[in-house]
Amino acid sequence: PAPGWAIDADVVVVGSGVAGLTTALRCAAGGARVTVVTKARLDDGSTRWAQGGIAAALGDGDTPAQHLDDTLVAGAGVCDESAVRLLVTEGPDAVRRLIASGARFDTSESNGEILLTREGGHHRSRIVHAGGDATGAEVSRALVEAVRTAGIETVENALVLDLLTDRGGRTAGVTLHVMGEGRRDGVGAVRAPAVVLATGGMGQVFSATTNPAVSTGDGVALALRAGAEVSDLEFVQFHPTVLWLGPQAEGQQPLVSEAVRGEGAHLVDADGVRFMLGQHELAELAPRDIVAKAITRRMQEHGTDHMYLDARHFGAEMWARRFPTILAACRANGIDPVSEPIPVAPAAHYASGGVRTDLRGRTTVPGLYACGEVACTGVHGANRLASNSLLEGLVFAERIADDVLTRERPAPGAPVLPGPSRAPLLEHGARYEIQRVMTAGAGVLRSAESLAGAAAALERVHTRAVEDLARDEKTAEPCVETWEATNLSLVARVLVAAAARREETRGCHWREDHPERDDAAWARHLVVTLAPDGT
Ligand code: SIN
Repeated sequence: PAPGWAIDADVVVVGSGVAGLTTALRCAAGGARVTVVTKARLDDGSTRWAQGGIAAALGDGDTPAQHLDDTLVAGAGVCDESAVRLLVTEGPDAVRRLIASGARFDTSESNGEILLTREGGHHRSRIVHAGGDATGAEVSRALVEAVRTAGIETVENALVLDLLTDRGGRTAGVTLHVMGEGRRDGVGAVRAPAVVLATGGMGQVFSATTNPAVSTGDGVALALRAGAEVSDLEFVQFHPTVLWLGPQAEGQQPLVSEAVRGEGAHLVDADGVRFMLGQHELAELAPRDIVAKAITRRMQEHGTDHMYLDARHFGAEMWARRFPTILAACRANGIDPVSEPIPVAPAAHYASGGVRTDLRGRTTVPGLYACGEVACTGVHGANRLASNSLLEGLVFAERIADDVLTRERPAPGAPVLPGPSRAPLLEHGARYEIQRVMTAGAGVLRSAESLAGAAAALERVHTRAVEDLARDEKTAEPCVETWEATNLSLVARVLVAAAARREETRGCHWREDHPERDDAAWARHLVVTLAPDGT
């Protein structure tokens, strides 16, 4: 459908997590007319769910150089070092600015200094946290409040559909599908010469994930349809310790933060044996991919689908003070971590890849930027280091805002080509089929056979769901769920193609048929663009 309404802005920010709101605030502070559009409510994205914290070299004796080393090691040889260097050197000040803008982090009762904890892959305590294990909620609260105070225009319940361009192929805005927002209901457009994608991740492409229901890869799908380069999609990070709720558990699952291991919890099997000892010098605090693989191997050996995290020795007081969110989630599911080990299993957590950008957050489409989980800046390589994600959102948001504010603006009034998309839409029920296919064939363990099976199944689901919708469309308008299924199908197919292509094991990409890392052939990025016919 053609847009039924339109508004104008200097920059439209798509998404309202740490990346989007930080960009919006800095652009507005620099005098730009900003519109933030977000798929649900302002605080409904992934940021709010972040537990562990934000990594930055703020502690005595810690340095950006040490943070750089840990990030490069976790990234398994394919981080872009210049991007990591920016992240770790600009990170501490970006965190200080977040504090100055109102975010409250946990501090020591004795001297008022910020408390720092450890997580997997970090050789130092460098993670700032808030509310014990509710860091993302505090970051989100502070940024939403700041955006409201600044009077930035926001459109909620607005699913982004496609990029608008001018005749020169430059960004001219986005089309949106808006639900229940009065005069801006239905399909509309925000016209702007700069678009910042900050749409978060794509965890919902798998059956079990720590990501909220809104994480359906919308930004990556939009960018692909717009002709932008996308990179490293095969590097899906599986968080090692997600509360195991049974074999049929689907959708968003409760996270059990790495910080629990950072404070001394042990991973054990059903016999109580600590199986990370001897596997890595950091044992339970090895980088996330190593812990997820060790858990998966142990589960295979024991013929089970979960392991345990034992933190009974924390005691009731520490559990309540340090990890209130996790304690409540466990108890709500009938587990008391004070008196019993927590059943855990890996689940999809973070897309280390995404829309490829340079160090100013520019994508390969002029005027289109990407920031946060949707982006591939090169800082994460094959496996993101714990708590580097909120940091990436902060640091690169500031860089993007500075670029938006100083870039040369196109002449006003250039005609905008009509949207929306050339994508054939899918019937919304395809979402669940896609999730099952991806979990079975492209999860923690992959092989040529499993990936070929997944690719064929995804094609079948796609074809059938397009036909089903075409039949239904005679009676029903496309809805948000239809677009989400369409986006999930596209990102799933690209992800599987990239995972099949990368014939080695590296970081969080684990090929059973190619169990070794192959630096000679594969110490590089896999970059994907969509052909004009959508293939
Ligand atoms: C966690 O708290 O374990 C998650 C932190 C992260 O994903 O960086």
